[in-house]
Amino acid sequence: SNPIISLSEMTDFQSKEDEFSPHHWYRRMLKQDPVVYNEASDSWHVFGYDLVKTVLNDHEHFSSERKRTIVNVGYISEDDNNNEGEHHIPDRLDIHNVDPPEHRKRRSLLAKAFTPRSLRLWEPRIQALAEQLIAKFAHQPVVDIVEAYTSVFPVMIMSDLLGVPSKDHHLFKEWVNQLFLPSTHTTFAEINEMKRTAGEEYFKYLYPIVVAKRLNPGEDIISDLIRAEVDGDQFSDEEIVRTTMFILGAGVETTSILLANSFYAMLYDQPGVYAELRNNPELIPNAVEEMLRYRFNISKMDRMVKKDNNLLGIDLKKGDAIVAWMSAANVDERVFEDPFTFNIHRSNNNKQLAFGYGTHFCLGAPLARLEAKIALSTFVQTFSRIENVEGFILEDNLIPAAAGQSLGHLPLKLYT
Ligand code: HEM
Repeated sequence: SNPIISLSEMTDFQSKEDEFSPHHWYRRMLKQDPVVYNEASDSWHVFGYDLVKTVLNDHEHFSSERKRTIVNVGYISEDDNNNEGEHHIPDRLDIHNVDPPEHRKRRSLLAKAFTPRSLRLWEPRIQALAEQLIAKFAHQPVVDIVEAYTSVFPVMIMSDLLGVPSKDHHLFKEWVNQLFLPSTHTTFAEINEMKRTAGEEYFKYLYPIVVAKRLNPGEDIISDLIRAEVDGDQFSDEEIVRTTMFILGAGVETTSILLANSFYAMLYDQPGVYAELRNNPELIPNAVEEMLRYRFNISKMDRMVKKDNNLLGIDLKKGDAIVAWMSAANVDERVFEDPFTFNIHRSNNNKQLAFGYGTHFCLGAPLARLEAKIALSTFVQTFSRIENVEGFILEDNLIPAAAGQSLGHLPLKLYT
């Protein structure tokens, strides 16, 4: 069977805009049965806050070792093809597709590169990058904020933190774009081929950098991965290159979308928020949580039923695929009062589940939050006001990203 669980029949959105702002659909799904079966994709779906948490965290019953997945960006290697398209576990570094106890060991190895100490070290570099990018468009009356800022900042940060020389950042961005293009049933072969080429070029470029850093480590993620050791285990050079690809896949597009959607929210959901954040930048971290809760509508993750169970109130069979819709759980009124209102003062919005929950909780969440905080605070310090441009048509400016529709362009007027 096809390894990709297609959600298009399940959601039945009539437009790109419907998918970008799916609250109506979430509201409907949250009122339905707690667990919904979709025949077209042969998969189960949960939307409510508590059930979503159970599916994400109860690894005894809901496994990350899947045969099918909604994640359609992965590159399937030749070996996997010989394996008739089954998603098999490529190596001992993959933490996304593995359950405890093995997961715990692998995660602690990777976590060495994401410590609070690293974040403190990186903060000034991230700050400097935000300032550099803003300086390039600060004098323009109108800017496409996606093109100039939100789609550039996260990939620049990641290449910088990996220790890639800044002259090569543009090369890096191209590979990352190609490596994580989403594919559908019909485009699978063609896109997979493009990814293979990009993957080879990326590998050829990065491998010598890893080898050099092993002799001469620095303060970057690759050097941290070189130093990482758990129970006498260490990463090989090849494994480190593959791990950086995984980190990029997990951390670039997601953060770009968070930033782009934050600007959209400040322009269209609640225009008063911008002035509030400029005057009270200490509100920014809570505003970021509210963006993740309210405007980050792509968060969903799947598991495979590991043993027959009735934990969700219906009989699930071993091997069944189940999708947890975190973005829907984020508007569950049992947890969030008046959930369809964007409210940066909400006191419990750090309960949002956009980063997942439990065992596999996003390892990059502190970094993503820091990037968003710096991106917004540097921006609001620079510009007194922003305004939307007349005639902006959302539908024409949405493009398909890995996890759903996202902003391809977002023009806005700038006032210093
Ligand atoms: C896992 C979301 C940014 C690295 C996850 C998961 C989610 C998620 C939902 C859990 C998957 C599961 O339960 O199976 C996000 C969002 C981001 C973001 C919404 C930004 C807004 C990042 C960044 C990095 C990163 C910046 C690293 C640079 C990871 C890793 C995992 C992960 C390594 C795997 C954790 C595990 O399986 O134990 N992320 N992520 N993420 N994320 Fe993120």
